[in-house]
Amino acid sequence: MIRVQNLTKRFDQFTAVNNLSFDVCPGEVLGFLGPNGAGKSTTMKMITGFIEPSDGKVSVFDMHVSQDPQAVQTIMGYLPEGAPAYGEMTVIAFLQFIAKVRGLKGEQAEQRLAKVIEQVELAPVLNKPIDTLSKGFARRVGLAQAIIHDPKVLILDEPTDGLDPNQKHQVRELIKGLAKDKIVIISTHILEEVSAVCSRALIISEGQLLLDGKPDELERQSRHHNAICLQLADEYADAQQQLASIDQIETVEAVAEPEDRTFMLFPKDGQMLLPEVVRWLDDKQWEVENIHLEKGRLDDVFRQVTRAQTV
Ligand SMILES: Nc1ncnc2c1ncn2[C@@H]1O[C@H](COP(=O)(O)OP(=O)(O)OP(=O)(O)O)[C@@H](O)[C@H]1O
Ligand SMILES: [Mg+2]
Repeated sequence: MIRVQNLTKRFDQFTAVNNLSFDVCPGEVLGFLGPNGAGKSTTMKMITGFIEPSDGKVSVFDMHVSQDPQAVQTIMGYLPEGAPAYGEMTVIAFLQFIAKVRGLKGEQAEQRLAKVIEQVELAPVLNKPIDTLSKGFARRVGLAQAIIHDPKVLILDEPTDGLDPNQKHQVRELIKGLAKDKIVIISTHILEEVSAVCSRALIISEGQLLLDGKPDELERQSRHHNAICLQLADEYADAQQQLASIDQIETVEAVAEPEDRTFMLFPKDGQMLLPEVVRWLDDKQWEVENIHLEKGRLDDVFRQVTRAQTV
């Protein structure tokens, strides 16, 4: 597994990563979330041995990253921020070069090349210089070089940044498929990506770990957990006030203007109030166009914890 212990990075007086500790096991897809400048990329650079920690340590399958970076990097694939280097090389020449650096030879190299070109759909751009690629294709080349040697550990810094919706979906499926026996760490600003791909998420802000949990555990901490989104078929007088009078309801917010027919009903203490609300609506004989239960929203939780810190 990966074990991060008291990891700290200072740039002069500034602390970018502050005493971070966590473990990641094979089969997990860990998502790093956090505002810009939170320290996600810096943490990834220390896990991959790209930069040295100021304090603390990282070990990967019991190998110490600072002491033996090459041994660790052999079993790791890393997609850094931005585009791959060697911009004057064509995509195919670059990938052949990386395959060689990774020790792949002959038939095996050919097979792995063909596989990753298919997996990230690079066939249309194989003979283009990397510098001339669109942003999304450049990210895809970065992803291809990260997975070419089928590494046991994948560290992907915003893997879907700049990708079109089809490719975002494709890359998420790819990551899920790869994750079965690997350790995958991704950073992302797309919160639905966390629910779609990650088995666990860490929220980091100002270099510190604020929350660590499964996506649905985090969602449960949201004010929207068990809230009810109700769209009435008609306008009823004082609908909002009347709904707010239901016992277990904390507040009612109008969510769609101008009809004044759609409301979010927030329960007291996150309790389940769907049956109660349905009964109440039935008693009143109010017609309902649409009603659904909210699981909870990661963006609530994200804002809650990261804002609380900066205030
Ligand atoms: N080489 C460096 N020298 C000085 N400060 C740095 C250096 N690298 C990063 N930092 C600072 O460390 C902090 C964390 O940066 P980092 O790139 O890790 O953030 P991030 O969470 O990846 O942000 P983003 O979401 O924008 O990618 C930022 O304030 C950044 O300016
Ligand atoms: Mg970053």
